[in-house]
Amino acid sequence: LSKVEIKLSDIPEGKNMTFKWRGKPLFVRHRTVKEIETEEAVNLAELRDPQHDKDRVLVSEWVIVIGVCTHLGCVPIANAGDYGGYYCPCHGSHYDASGRIRKGPAPLNLEVPYYEFPDEETVIVG
Ligand code: FES
Repeated sequence: LSKVEIKLSDIPEGKNMTFKWRGKPLFVRHRTVKEIETEEAVNLAELRDPQHDKDRVLVSEWVIVIGVCTHLGCVPIANAGDYGGYYCPCHGSHYDASGRIRKGPAPLNLEVPYYEFPDEETVIVG
């Protein structure tokens, strides 16, 4: 299937859920207000792959990224690591709650796929 439809009301605030899309894990994260504030305030000069949080999300509550570490392709663990976003246990890459690489060997941020919100309750990825 080239597209996946996800019901957002199934994902409580503060949780990350993993789906499958085009054979890859897809992370959908319902961020807390604190996470949103933290990520929006990050100084881009600190980032290896500089991208503002607002350029990675359509709506600040929802982070939608491919769950494949940009180092060698392991699946990171949600709500773990030094930046509270994702942690890849294979070689120790730490991502923030925007999916941006902050520490460890991965070169790039977690990839953001194309997606849209047909209504407030639904996201369609692909
Ligand atoms: Fe994730 Fe190496 S594959 S740190």
